[in-house]
Amino acid sequence: MTKSSEQHGNGLPVLILLGPPGAGKGTQAKKLEERFGLVQLSTGDLLRDAVARGTEAGKAAKDVMEAGGLVGDDIVIQIVADRLEAQHCAQGVILDGFPRTTAQARALDDILSQKGTGVDAAISLEVDDAAMIERISGRYTCAGCGEGYHQSFKTPERDGVCDKCGGTEFKHRADDNAETVRSRLEAYHADTAPLIEFYDAKGALHRVDAMQSIAGVERSLTDLVAPITGVAVA
Ligand code: AP5
Repeated sequence: MTKSSEQHGNGLPVLILLGPPGAGKGTQAKKLEERFGLVQLSTGDLLRDAVARGTEAGKAAKDVMEAGGLVGDDIVIQIVADRLEAQHCAQGVILDGFPRTTAQARALDDILSQKGTGVDAAISLEVDDAAMIERISGRYTCAGCGEGYHQSFKTPERDGVCDKCGGTEFKHRADDNAETVRSRLEAYHADTAPLIEFYDAKGALHRVDAMQSIAGVERSLTDLVAPITGVAVA
């Protein structure tokens, strides 16, 4: 189910960020969250949290994630359905890393349809493979607050000190190694790229050049999202 333009504003705005590993989904979802008051729902973050807490879903996901494959649809769909029930999602959501398969996209349509709503926009962040590898290999996050950085494209203002929380410990993701990144890219091309056609056929697809700078991508997304949310941007 995709909302027609007349349906915008009836129910929660639902945006999807599509794109391969390193396209900038997480970086831009956080910016949209701050600017438009939407809630970022990252299945990668939720699964890493489940793994860290040792839940049943986390135990099932751990090995698959370490190998760069896709976690089973049933597990991921249940996690998203639970989150969409949460009160704080009532202001609207940015789905970051979900859906990733056609089965997940159809399940999302069903969940939203039961709420009388649908997908407002599926935004494809378009990058080339070489840029993805460079972005992923240079990525790190603050161990304290999770703020994301990059050794070339986004460094802290004071060397070794997190801009956001002042922390001095940083970490790399376990799946950010060359072999796993290759598997994640393969999974993207085999299972997730077909969703571009899926949403295009519904009239919900928007393409954004994600080879621009972080600020440039943010500007393109702001122009796209402002009319959907009805939030005026100066
Ligand atoms: P997930 O956490 O979703 O990882 P991913 O899709 O591989 O995406 P990344 O987080 O690596 O990249 P991103 O696009 O968010 O880029 P970022 O903004 O960080 O999934 C991890 C795993 O969980 C999957 O492999 C799978 O196993 C499982 N999983 C998750 N969801 C699933 C689902 N729905 N179904 C099944 N399994 C699922 O940017 C990267 C770096 O580049 C950063 O350092 C950033 O600063 C920099 N950067 C960003 N934009 C720019 C720019 N424009 N210019 C220069 N640098 C930039």
